[in-house]
Amino acid sequence: MDFRIQSASFGALASSNADALILIIAGETLPADFDAALAALAKDAIKLGDFELKAGKTLALLRPLGVKAPRLVLAGAGKPSLKGARAALQGALAQLKGRGAVHAAVAFVGFDALSESLAEQFVLGSQDAAYVYRHTKPSAPAPAKLAKLTLLIDKADAHAAKLAKAGLARGLAIGAGIELARECANRPGNHATPTFLGEQAKALGKSHGLKVEVLDRKACEKLGMGSFLSVAQGSDEPLRFIVARYEGAAKTVAPVVLVGKGITFDSGGISLKPGAGMDEMKFDMGGAASVLGTMRAVAELKPKINVVMLIAACENMPSGHAVKPGDVVTSMSGQTIENLNTDAEGRLVLCDALTYAERFNPAVVVDVATLTGACVIALGGVRSGMYASDDELAASLSAAGEAALDLCWRMPLDEEYDEGLKSNFADVANVAGREGGSITAAKFLQRFASKYRWGHLDIAGTAWKSGAAKGGTGRPVGLLTHFVLSQAR
Ligand code: BES
Ligand code: MN
Ligand code: ZN
Repeated sequence: MDFRIQSASFGALASSNADALILIIAGETLPADFDAALAALAKDAIKLGDFELKAGKTLALLRPLGVKAPRLVLAGAGKPSLKGARAALQGALAQLKGRGAVHAAVAFVGFDALSESLAEQFVLGSQDAAYVYRHTKPSAPAPAKLAKLTLLIDKADAHAAKLAKAGLARGLAIGAGIELARECANRPGNHATPTFLGEQAKALGKSHGLKVEVLDRKACEKLGMGSFLSVAQGSDEPLRFIVARYEGAAKTVAPVVLVGKGITFDSGGISLKPGAGMDEMKFDMGGAASVLGTMRAVAELKPKINVVMLIAACENMPSGHAVKPGDVVTSMSGQTIENLNTDAEGRLVLCDALTYAERFNPAVVVDVATLTGACVIALGGVRSGMYASDDELAASLSAAGEAALDLCWRMPLDEEYDEGLKSNFADVANVAGREGGSITAAKFLQRFASKYRWGHLDIAGTAWKSGAAKGGTGRPVGLLTHFVLSQAR
């Protein structure tokens, strides 16, 4: 998809030449100085009961009188908000699906002024609507005809051009990151193996100038990653520990470290999961996919900051070699762990990655993981669970989520939640009871993250969708990219 910016007089939008003109309208009335022909059309449609200036309302017209474009789509956005704008844009684009329009021009009307974020969402909302997974299904309907989107900016808005340009660039970079994350997540487990993830990182390193290192089992043994190795040992698919660095600042500047859970298939291991819906556990590398996507976005935006990405990738499988309930392993930190449930494997691969992160003397470490079913119960698919070792970090992660329309919600880390992780046979057990399952998983991780500022995102509910729209969402690439950018300032 090709995105452009074009300055236009909002008093004469009807003369805009595209195959389709899309008006995203916030508020309950059109501005007084708005294009007279379009205003009359909208008023008429409202009078006839065909349209309302409300969130979720759209109207598509063919060859409307006095409008140069052969198609006109009106979309109500409700009160002026980023969220409303994005939803209305996607509603409007849905009206053009399966139609002949190749070039659409979009104007946001009634949003006081164009913001960088609005321009960013113009790109992200359009790309989201156009994404089709095709890698193992080439017969999937071809991507929509719509190939060119022009953001119309108001001539009267003095700052609009500059903001639009910056927002568009950010949208394109994050969009590329989201696309990479979705593509990796959607590929089946027999394609998206740990080896594949390592190759993706290497390819990204080549195309985007990142330093990439891919460690194999032997290297992880040398490092003493007994916990990570214990998860991988039941699978015939070789593990990978992936390290990528983006260097945008002096070597002396402490980096942001992003850690992704990369379980390319989670069968549960010996604590086998039930069969129904188990296919969705190919998405259990959603954290890895999102940090990979974030590295792509960051590398395209080139902020003055250092970022390190760590991915612990392996399968969790049952076999004669698999780790068993009751087994005790020694993590890289030296802490021993009793494996009480081999299905709580995410924390077992992450804990060694968190210890590995210490060597970078990080400014902050954020891990991202499809960690617990309990988080899905707590927050559903709307917000990711967010944990942070201090309030300032929590505020930064929240703000990044709001700015990217990729929301999270802070969860608690009271020490009382640690109780259930006690073991008679090791320093810590890998599971507590069923209650507060997302929190106790975070408490487990916290034991390995005591040497730096630490954040944790449980994306079990947000990384992919089930049902008819089954597929990776690319979340939280938007949140993470905004977070990294915020740390650069
Ligand atoms: N990958 C799963 C978490 C998950 C489950 C994500 C369902 C999305 C949907 C994780 O490895 C897991 O199995 N967690 C267990 C932990 C339990 C054994 C303490 C869970 O949530 O059931
Ligand atoms: Mn599991
Ligand atoms: Zn898992």
